[in-house]
Amino acid sequence: MTERSVRVRVPATSANLGPGFDALGLACTLYNEMTLTLTREPGLLIAARGEGAAYIPGDERNIVWKSIRYLLDKAGRAEEFRGAQIRMSNRIPLSRGLGSSATAIVAGLTAANALIGSPFDRHALLQFATDIEGHPDNVAPAIYGGFTVNTVTDGTVECFSFLPRIFLRFVVMVPDFYLSTKSAREVLPAEVPMKDAVFNISHAAMLVAALSRGSEKHLCNAFADALHQNYRAPLIPGMFDVFAAAKKAGACGAALSGAGPCLIAFVPEKRNCTEDVAHAMREAFRSHEIEARPLQLRLDTKGARVLHRRNANVKS
Ligand code: HSE
Repeated sequence: MTERSVRVRVPATSANLGPGFDALGLACTLYNEMTLTLTREPGLLIAARGEGAAYIPGDERNIVWKSIRYLLDKAGRAEEFRGAQIRMSNRIPLSRGLGSSATAIVAGLTAANALIGSPFDRHALLQFATDIEGHPDNVAPAIYGGFTVNTVTDGTVECFSFLPRIFLRFVVMVPDFYLSTKSAREVLPAEVPMKDAVFNISHAAMLVAALSRGSEKHLCNAFADALHQNYRAPLIPGMFDVFAAAKKAGACGAALSGAGPCLIAFVPEKRNCTEDVAHAMREAFRSHEIEARPLQLRLDTKGARVLHRRNANVKS
C-alpha cells in the first residue's frame, strides 16, 4: 500500500493589534512545521518537539488531530482515513498570545486538505478554522499571511489580507509565564460603554487606513484600545509601562499580542532601532520583576504553505 505524507509550515500570529479586538491580526516570521501521514487503519502517532512539546496531547484530544477529523468529515472522507502520523516541530511559544493553537488548527486543516487533493480553497479553510477556534483573528493571518481584517456576519467569515505600505519590524516580548486565552477572556466585561466602542472603531479604522496608505504619522495613536487591554492589564504586570518604554525607544506603537501575555511593539524599519526597543521593553518588564525574552520578527506575507508531498511504500 502507498501512503502519502505532506509537510506544512504555518506562521505565528499576533491578534487584535490594539484596537482590533477579535478582528485584526498579522502573520510573522516564526513558524511551526508539521508532517502528516493519513492512514487507513485506526491509530494515532503524535510526536512533538520544540516549544511546549511536553504539553501537547498525544491522543484524540490533540487539536491538530481534531482539525484533521473536522476537515475529513466535511469532505466525506472520514471513514477512509481513520488514523494518522503527526510529527510537529514547534518554534512558536505555547499559551503566550502568538497563535500557537490557531497554528495547530491551520496546520491540521491545510495538511489534510492537501493530502486528499485540495477540495477546499483558502476561504473554506478559514471558515472551518474559525468554526473550530471561535474567532478568526489568529487563524486568518495564519492562513493568508500579511495583515488581516476579519468580519463574521451571521457565522460567515470574511478576510481581507493586505501588505502595509510601511515596512514594519515587530519586537515581541515573551514573558516567562503562561496565560490561557480562557483566563484572559474571563476578565472582560459582557458589555462596554458606547464611547469605548466608538474609540475602538475609530482607532481600528485609522490603523488600517494608515498602514494601507503608508502614513507613519497617523500610526502614532492608532494602536490605542479601550475594549480589552485595560481589563487585562492586571494579568500582565507592567504592561502599560512596557508600551511606554517601547514608544520612547522608537516604536510607533505597542499592544498586547492576542490575549497575551506577549507584548508586541511596531517599529518602522527605517528607524533602525529594534535593539533599543527590545532593550527598553525588557528593562521595563524587569522593573516589575518579570523576565521576558525578545523576538525580533518581520511580517510573513505567504501564510500557511505546503512544503512538500511524498509517497511512501509501507507494508500493509
Ligand atoms: N482576540 C482574541 C482575544 C485573541 O484577545 O481573546 C486570542 O485568541
